[in-house]
Amino acid sequence: MEIENANCRSRLSECVHSLASGNYSIERPLKVDIEIPSLKILIEELHRVFENNYVNIQHVQKLMAAYKSNPKDWKKFAKFDRYRYTRNLVDAGNGLFNIMILCWGAGHASAIHDHADAHCFMKQLDGTLEEVRYAWPETVEPEVLKKLKKHQTAYSGESGDVTDSENNNSACDRCHNGSCQIDRCQHGDECTDDYDAHSMREIGRTRLELNDVCYINDALGLHRVENPSHVDGAVSLHLYCPPFDSCRVFDARTGKPTNVKVTFWSEYGKKMKRVMDANEVADSQQ
Ligand code: SIN
Repeated sequence: MEIENANCRSRLSECVHSLASGNYSIERPLKVDIEIPSLKILIEELHRVFENNYVNIQHVQKLMAAYKSNPKDWKKFAKFDRYRYTRNLVDAGNGLFNIMILCWGAGHASAIHDHADAHCFMKQLDGTLEEVRYAWPETVEPEVLKKLKKHQTAYSGESGDVTDSENNNSACDRCHNGSCQIDRCQHGDECTDDYDAHSMREIGRTRLELNDVCYINDALGLHRVENPSHVDGAVSLHLYCPPFDSCRVFDARTGKPTNVKVTFWSEYGKKMKRVMDANEVADSQQ
């Protein structure tokens, strides 16, 4: 199945015309007929590809699959932490995309998260990871699906009333006022809705073994990634396009979303000075 070209300079929701066909799933197994002998060559090739406004998602996957992981290429970027997985910037892609290496200690996992309206490509460089996908909680609708609905409504000739299609999220169970939308709840920080009616529904689970590649965006759902090993670390290569510095994480039990900043543990092989966040500062002063 050929994949529509995606405008990778834009957020996903700005290219719904190419997603509206639904033709953006990935053919498996990927037939790879390109040779990429090193990580350096892969990055050069990705720079060339992302110079174009339109990028073929499947082609990017093929490039990533064509590179066969060699620890000599990436070990200088692979910096682990004892307590949680780390994000290590490898290349900032001229501001159009970024490439990073994530290091997962035994049992480390990410929270369920969205992809901030961006494309996410991921390749396994070492060890094994498990990717678990979830449906969006009923009360939170990503920008791309809102736009897709509007686009489909316009094409089916139904009323494309913006207010209707943007305000038709179901009401929050606790507020009962019909206007609470969890991603822009009118009660702000004071809102104590516990979201327990909206728990997360698993829709898929994939083991990523050495050199496997996967792709996700907000139209395909949410995910979390886990290193299932109790003993071995794992390393993965991630490409996000466009780059983002915050996303939403979702409480696994209740589906409640929270905005979080995403940061780097190291950049270009150099460990970053860690900045304590407000809570940590408060903890350290008690
Ligand atoms: C993941 O896909 O689980 C990694 C998220 C991140 O970029 O921190």
